[in-house]
Amino acid sequence: MKTVLITGANRGLGLGMVKYLTKQNTAKTIIATCRTVSEELKTLSAENKNLVILNLDVKNTASFGDFSTEISKVVGNQGLNLLINNAGVTTKFTKLPFVKTEQLLDNLTVNTIAPIMLTKTLLPILKQAADANSDKPMGVHRAAVINMSSILGSISQNDQGGFYPYRCSKAALNAASKSMSVDLKKDNILVASMHPGWVKTDMGGKNAPLEVETSISGMFNTIGKLNESDTGKFLNYDGTELPCVASSDAQSVRDQEHILIFERKKCLEYANERLQEHSAA
Ligand SMILES: NC(=O)c1ccc[n+]([C@@H]2O[C@H](COP(=O)([O-])OP(=O)(O)OC[C@H]3O[C@@H](n4cnc5c(N)ncnc54)[C@H](OP(=O)(O)O)[C@@H]3O)[C@@H](O)[C@H]2O)c1
Repeated sequence: MKTVLITGANRGLGLGMVKYLTKQNTAKTIIATCRTVSEELKTLSAENKNLVILNLDVKNTASFGDFSTEISKVVGNQGLNLLINNAGVTTKFTKLPFVKTEQLLDNLTVNTIAPIMLTKTLLPILKQAADANSDKPMGVHRAAVINMSSILGSISQNDQGGFYPYRCSKAALNAASKSMSVDLKKDNILVASMHPGWVKTDMGGKNAPLEVETSISGMFNTIGKLNESDTGKFLNYDGTELPCVASSDAQSVRDQEHILIFERKKCLEYANERLQEHSAA
């Protein structure tokens, strides 16, 4: 792959991807986008001339047109090989009585609407890469979109309830990935949804079982092998297929165990916060 663009690249998994790609030194150009440049990203950019940092708040879909023009200038007539829609937000564990309209709208905007609208806007540049690499099979060396989803977006795996904003936004993202894969197949652009595992980041928390490096190397190993038969799939970081709707394989069971621990922890955090609010009142 010659050119890759990652959203939400200033921290967490996005930053981990940039670190991995600069270390691998296989991509000609890495475009890291973020709202605020972190010190770590600044240092990486000083050390790697092929790393371009661009400002992008994915909620600001009105800015996508100008952003696309900037990307065109960076990638030239070779187009963009890989778009990773990584930027994401979540809320605390939320049962139905506590869910708020603003949370639902915010999660849907960042986790669903932004990836759809950004992919739509960058489509001509992705097509350019697919055409410029017509000698290569469908995959990341031609043109691909990876939407960073979550197992919490799997409908069949949900036996704990709650998390309305996050679950709905990621389930909808999975639906969008599937539609994109159908719509873009004729253009030889591969599309897949990925679950990075439960990872130690600000979002995953310190109790998550996976290190960022493990998740990222697993994901790039998986992404690098994707071909026409994989387009439209929902994949775990280690390459196993996940159910958007129904399955009961061993990996799914392991993921479910992680989710249970995660949700119980969030429940406790929530209960503690409410207790503190009551005692302060
Ligand atoms: N960690 C896990 O266990 C886990 C599990 C399943 C799925 N995921 C998914 O993996 C992706 C990355 O998660 P993470 O763990 O790295 O989360 P994180 O540590 O919370 O980082 C989130 C990233 O998204 C960016 N972001 C949020 N809103 C944005 C906006 N409006 N515009 C641009 N960037 C924005 C953040 O930038 P700012 O610094 O500007 O806020 C940050 O770079 C997400 O899509 C998440 O849902 C994570």
